[in-house]
Amino acid sequence: MKIIRRPRRSRKSDVIRALLEETKLSLEDFIFPLFLKDGDGTKEAVPSMPGVYRHTVASLLKEIEECILLGVKNFCLFPFIDDTLKDQFASESYNPESIYLKTVRKIKTHFPEAYLMTDVAMDAYSSDGHDGVYQKEAILNDETLPILGKMALAQAQAGTDIIGPSDMMDGRIGYIREVLDKEGFKEVLIMAYTAKYASALYEPFREALGSTPKKIDKKTYQMNPANRREALVEATLDIQEGADVLMVKPAICYLDVIKALKDCYNLPVAAYNASGEYVMIKAAAQNGWLDEKEVMLESLISIKRAGADIILSYFTKEYAKLLNKSNF
Ligand code: PBG
Repeated sequence: MKIIRRPRRSRKSDVIRALLEETKLSLEDFIFPLFLKDGDGTKEAVPSMPGVYRHTVASLLKEIEECILLGVKNFCLFPFIDDTLKDQFASESYNPESIYLKTVRKIKTHFPEAYLMTDVAMDAYSSDGHDGVYQKEAILNDETLPILGKMALAQAQAGTDIIGPSDMMDGRIGYIREVLDKEGFKEVLIMAYTAKYASALYEPFREALGSTPKKIDKKTYQMNPANRREALVEATLDIQEGADVLMVKPAICYLDVIKALKDCYNLPVAAYNASGEYVMIKAAAQNGWLDEKEVMLESLISIKRAGADIILSYFTKEYAKLLNKSNF
């Protein structure tokens, strides 16, 4: 038997495999999502997300410092807001003395080298647990815009570098870009949640934030998981409206969508490795069913291979530790 082409020649040793490796993960691609809560106490473990905490201001600053020493440069911050501060119109979201905005200012003062992404959506501050104004079994689109504008502006004033409007409704990017530009924040980037699916994989995150919707689900604004071409419609709009980066969320179940955006457009593509994707690996590893490190690396490389330039992942610090060869 004559076999001329033998692809196994290219897999013979570590050296040749590394030489021919098509995709390389880099810590610089990562954004690390962190949770912040009010109060002086101590940080709290998030029960639904092993290894993830609701930080106090002090423990958050320590965590960021540790991460920076490990080489992590990019962070994304979400707030756990006390129920007593929530209302129908999320007014705490643009209160300059809110724990979130105070902490954004602190982070930027203590760590000017850290690149910080902040979240623009009502859910963390809404007594209804929705991303927009809830009224009579409906989520209002246009009526939510002025609230998002105030929130984005307050975050820009607090010193954020990049804004992530995560509510997946219409006209967000254009509206927020206009507000920011008018107020002199032309240099603040916008990462559009271009294709955010109505996914069951956000459950652990909602527990972390205490933001589970009280009534109705999010299917009238987040996308149907069955749709890929609709993501292209969303991307076209976000680009027209001024987005700097397009994002797909979740990541692992939507690798084809990441690839579609990468192939069809010239903007950077980000992928949000959602909380449910993180805990599936954690839970299986805790049971001894999967090798956590190997599955983590395989899933992260698959996101990159699909075309993501940026990966938002709760694994960021563990990946950084692994690179630093400390005790993973
Ligand atoms: C809400 C928001 C969600 C996530 C990020 N921003 C949850 C939701 O849409 O209900 C999910 C993050 C994750 O699961 O890791 N604006």
